[in-house]
Amino acid sequence: MEENKLLEVRNLKKFFPINRGFFNRKVGEVKAVNGVDFSIYQGETLGLVGESGCGKTTLGRAILRAVEPTSGQVLFRTGEGKVVDVTKAEDRQLKKIRKDMQLIFQDPYSSLNPRMTVKDLVGEPLLVNKIARGKGLQQKIIELIEQVDLRPEYMDRYPHAFSGGQRQRIGIARVLSLNPRFIVCDEAVSALDVSIQAQIINLLQELQQKYKLTYLFIAHDLSLVKYLCDRIIVMYLGKIVEIADSEQLFTQTRHPYTEALLSAVPRVDPKRKSSKIILKGEVPSPINPPAGCYFHPRCNYVQEKCRREEPLFRNVGQEGEEHYVSCHWAEQLGPKEVM
Ligand SMILES: Nc1ncnc2c1ncn2[C@@H]1O[C@H](COP(=O)(O)OP(=O)(O)O)[C@@H](O)[C@H]1O
Ligand SMILES: [Mg+2]
Repeated sequence: MEENKLLEVRNLKKFFPINRGFFNRKVGEVKAVNGVDFSIYQGETLGLVGESGCGKTTLGRAILRAVEPTSGQVLFRTGEGKVVDVTKAEDRQLKKIRKDMQLIFQDPYSSLNPRMTVKDLVGEPLLVNKIARGKGLQQKIIELIEQVDLRPEYMDRYPHAFSGGQRQRIGIARVLSLNPRFIVCDEAVSALDVSIQAQIINLLQELQQKYKLTYLFIAHDLSLVKYLCDRIIVMYLGKIVEIADSEQLFTQTRHPYTEALLSAVPRVDPKRKSSKIILKGEVPSPINPPAGCYFHPRCNYVQEKCRREEPLFRNVGQEGEEHYVSCHWAEQLGPKEVM
């Protein structure tokens, strides 16, 4: 793995078994993540977008081994510079890696014990992982609370006394307490009001600078992802269809699905007319994905080959740029400026 990479995901799959009947026999599988390859560079913010149910959460969790991957590799560079395969790490090593890799959810409320005060919530990971205790613990808790711009005076209160944005800050303080290097933010700001969203985003950006954090940022708001992320991954039905530099994805779109997804984003500039592409049909089921290109039943450019052959996921970037796409016709169709 190259020196500038923090993480490299190779042919990662996560299938959930479907069991039915009296004998609870396996009758099928949900192919939530169906063979994905990508890298995350040190210090970057990598966006992950795609319709609901396409496998974003499962992918984020499989990387951290919060769900056990079905197959594939997740190579991770540790703080000491060693490269380990997270999918094969043993208990002791995994425990160490888990401090390095953390997850922030959409709804911190469901993950914050309502019977614990802010002080105890922020202190818990420090105690459990034997990072601090006694006077040092108290000091560390106050530091963390100040880091996320909450007032230490409030630390004896319970989560219900706080707003959604403040609860997200408590969640961030908990995650920070372990000194992570990589954080998966799964729709972390999606449920918040726009103004609160901006504050949390600012906080995440400040913390990134200060601690040289790397983010995988899962979101469905494309304008937000465009603003925040260095590069963006587009997922469809458990597979990656396109990865590009943020700017490039919007101005040199290569995949018909990305084109449709971006065309649905409301325009800021009223002079630019929007030609919204309506996707035909429904998202197919990840239990029985279509043959050939998974997107072909809904694609406006569909040809016979698309129904038979799965497209190769390849780099079509110019002048050494990385721009990966999986469409048979990417070269012929050329780039499109959607936004
Ligand atoms: N624990 C689970 N058991 C069975 N199916 C699951 C489980 N978690 C997710 N899925 C299925 O996997 C697919 C991807 O889900 P998810 O990763 O949550 O997508 P997203 O985050 O993009 O909305 C969906 O079809 C979902 O129903
Ligand atoms: Mg999700």
